[in-house]
Amino acid sequence: MTKYKEGKINMDRFRSAEQTRKVYLEQHKKYTADKTLFQRFLNMVMDPNYFHLTKEDFKGKNILDAGCGNSAYFEIAMIKLGVGRITCLDLGKEWIPFLKNALHDFGISDKKIEYVSGSTADLPFEDNSFDIVFSNGVLMHLYDENEIKKAFSELSRVTRRGGYLYVVLGCPGGFIEEEFFPSIRRFYRKNKVFKTLIDNITPDIFVEMFESIVRGMKRHTGEKAKFDRKTIKRLFDIDFCTFLQNVTQVPNRHILWLDEKTAFKLFVENGFEKPVRCRRYVKRKNIRKYFAPLHYDSDNKFARLLYGPGNLEYIARKK
Ligand SMILES: C[S@@+](CC[C@H](N)C(=O)[O-])C[C@H]1O[C@@H](n2cnc3c(N)ncnc32)[C@H](O)[C@@H]1O
Repeated sequence: MTKYKEGKINMDRFRSAEQTRKVYLEQHKKYTADKTLFQRFLNMVMDPNYFHLTKEDFKGKNILDAGCGNSAYFEIAMIKLGVGRITCLDLGKEWIPFLKNALHDFGISDKKIEYVSGSTADLPFEDNSFDIVFSNGVLMHLYDENEIKKAFSELSRVTRRGGYLYVVLGCPGGFIEEEFFPSIRRFYRKNKVFKTLIDNITPDIFVEMFESIVRGMKRHTGEKAKFDRKTIKRLFDIDFCTFLQNVTQVPNRHILWLDEKTAFKLFVENGFEKPVRCRRYVKRKNIRKYFAPLHYDSDNKFARLLYGPGNLEYIARKK
């Protein structure tokens, strides 16, 4: 697992990193196994316009995916966009064979890919090594604010002058992130039944829940309510189940701290031009599709209430 070069190993930090990796190892296996879910992720990053870049900006470039995980969609998208070399970095080594195999299944050889075990907070690369550095959904899972700042400066250090750093930070505000997620995370940690349910959640469990509701309605009111199994399985699909696990199982979720002001400050202090906000409308088929417009249109009053400023995704050019 990760080695921290800070002298004394902080066991708490070590355990938290180990647990984070374990959670994502399992989640990412589900991403690659489910075609719909995998395609949704792939579509999200296939469009250079989303990154405020052109296809030319990717051609032949040397890129780093810091906190790559083992779901492979990002690497596939980058190869399709024509990058020259991808360095994939994550904690420990267990993810490497899973990522390799997933890429091989898509006909992608190891020729352009390097697999590196390491921490975003202590990158084993020279200064100015990469044309574009990506860190998607990683910083919020680090141990504390100091580690996030350290990681940000490491990501900046390895980005070459004139190159780009892209980060995804989450929604730093609104009811969902300020109240709802912290409360289900607390309940997950204190209630064993809820923990077991979330750890083993599948679309079939939602069907079972709806069946029991319909039985209850019939028993109490005589009402013959109907529901369509297929619809329930679509609304609460594997994508939704892994989303629930994503929110609850990981030890750290420092999303509120990483607000717009903090993100701007981090970019500027680390030698970048003003960051540009990237925005994408995520097309889904499950229940979250009804939340997508709210997630996207942050000028809508309901959106601000639920999601604050919306998902913060930035790209910036190093001076
Ligand atoms: C939400 S997943 C994102 C994975 C991938 N970037 C994506 O967009 O699908 C977070 C990833 O960050 C990794 N991670 C967490 N802390 C890390 C650290 N200190 N250094 C490197 N990777 C880390 C986890 O192991 C996990 O694979």
